[in-house]
Amino acid sequence: MKNTLFTLVPAFAFAMGAWAQVSPEILSERHAMLRLEHNGKYLLLPVEEKQENAHIRVVKDNQLVNTINCRLAVDKVDYYVPYEVHEGEILDIAFAANSRYTGSIKGFTCWNKMQYTDEFTEKTTEKYRPDYHHTPGYGWMNDPNGMFYKDGKWHLCYQWNPYASYWENLSWGHSSSTDLLHWTAEPTALVPDALGMIFSGSAVVDKENTAGFGKDAIVLLYTSARERQTQSMAYSTDGGKTFTKYSGNPILTADIPDFRDPKVFWNEDIKCWNLILASGQEMWIYTSSNLRDWKFESAFGRNYGNHGGVWECPDLMKMKVAGSEEEKWLLICNINPGGPFGGSATQYFVGSFDGHEFKCESAPEVTKWMDYGKDHYATVTFDNAPDGRCVAIAWMSNWQYANQVPTLQFRSANTIARDLGLYSYNGETYCSVKPAVEMDAARGKQIAAPAARCEIVLTLKGDAQITLKNKHGERVTMVYDEEEGTFDMDRRRSGNVSFSDAFPCVTSAPTNGKLRQVRLFVDRCSIEAFDADGKMAMTNLVFPTEPYNRIEIKGKAKAKVYALQ
Ligand code: FRU
Repeated sequence: MKNTLFTLVPAFAFAMGAWAQVSPEILSERHAMLRLEHNGKYLLLPVEEKQENAHIRVVKDNQLVNTINCRLAVDKVDYYVPYEVHEGEILDIAFAANSRYTGSIKGFTCWNKMQYTDEFTEKTTEKYRPDYHHTPGYGWMNDPNGMFYKDGKWHLCYQWNPYASYWENLSWGHSSSTDLLHWTAEPTALVPDALGMIFSGSAVVDKENTAGFGKDAIVLLYTSARERQTQSMAYSTDGGKTFTKYSGNPILTADIPDFRDPKVFWNEDIKCWNLILASGQEMWIYTSSNLRDWKFESAFGRNYGNHGGVWECPDLMKMKVAGSEEEKWLLICNINPGGPFGGSATQYFVGSFDGHEFKCESAPEVTKWMDYGKDHYATVTFDNAPDGRCVAIAWMSNWQYANQVPTLQFRSANTIARDLGLYSYNGETYCSVKPAVEMDAARGKQIAAPAARCEIVLTLKGDAQITLKNKHGERVTMVYDEEEGTFDMDRRRSGNVSFSDAFPCVTSAPTNGKLRQVRLFVDRCSIEAFDADGKMAMTNLVFPTEPYNRIEIKGKAKAKVYALQ
């Protein structure tokens, strides 16, 4: 299954054409200026990740128009990122104070390697670039943001650094898809401004023009992040192609250091908008009739669930409990650190919500995790999904090592989309997580052995051990223990595990009953395991030298492997 993003966003085998060297004007031992010339559409900036950030101020007509932090190459180039050239701009570049800089910065590799080009085409040559998972065309990605469905298209924005593959310069990248599998790059939705970087947030389709931007306007609520965090809004009146920031930003402020990630939804029960955001280790709930003026209603979280880290990226939705007509509310609470296997993870609470206050129905000490892998974070759902579905996507990484995973031109992918639901087990209500129905259509013909990308369907009749491996002895072993009611995944010898001490691990999930069918989705650097009935999900990254192409089964299991188209 080809990700159309790759063909649409241009690549790294740049057709160099006329190669024009830049001529920096050196101002001091740490400071240079570069006047941009019209020698190409882009200036390729050479990045060397082990360096410190150079601080680039973009000046035009004597005004500061942008600031960018980028680890410009001093000794060698790891990869390039494109800077779109606007005539008349000056890049005012201050390198970090660093005792290594002896002699003139004139000798830095970046000046020889910076080049103008008209074409910037990414290539999918990196072996860990997933095929059917959403990834940024290049650069760094974390949380999924501003997800909405409209006119047959799923829109997915994301925390994006377009100027390197590590966390910096947070903007909202934007992709769209008609099937949740093939993603097309869209123009950048939001870039940093004087109010700060653009942190996480959400989107709604304003069907009744409550905000006054027009009927069916797409309204984004996001966090503007500087020393403190405030909430801002932007809107689109062309179906999500372009976004305009609201001139009255910020629309919500507080005297709290961690105050971010607004998720907004229309609450039909009270005929009002609700906003939920993360505030320290609580979730704060607001109401509004126009998406601009927000009234604080209540805080949830003190003493409930896990508090091993900061609460982030909330979501709140109403769903029916499977097999009944009863409706309950699911409050999603991402937490970092504090996850069951270290670092980031998604916990959730089930309860009631009257539009003003969320009441958790479980005892305060009960903690429920949505996914028992190590690489599942910042989970949120699409606004306006068809047929009342709750479709979630999570960022497939972990803050413990996200900046170190062994990819270069891009860093991080999102999980496959998942359909969420609720089910009861042993007197508690849990969140069910299934691969989105769109994944069924992707299943191709049965194949003899696992491949770089495939779906493996395990039929279980009792205890079993399933190993995926390659000829180098790299392997991932999964163990189902029926009596214990657990499913484990061991990636300690899965391939490259050395980039972080926090990476090698065994993750373990409670199965909440017997497992009869497990679906494994493999895509170059990830394995996502799902109980077919949704009672268990586990998402883990793996970096094998070569794809696992053998499967070994011990115990009461059978496997069928399918190509994914
Ligand atoms: C979660 C998070 C959010 C924040 C964003 C910044 O991963 O820390 O809370 O808005 O990332 O990139």
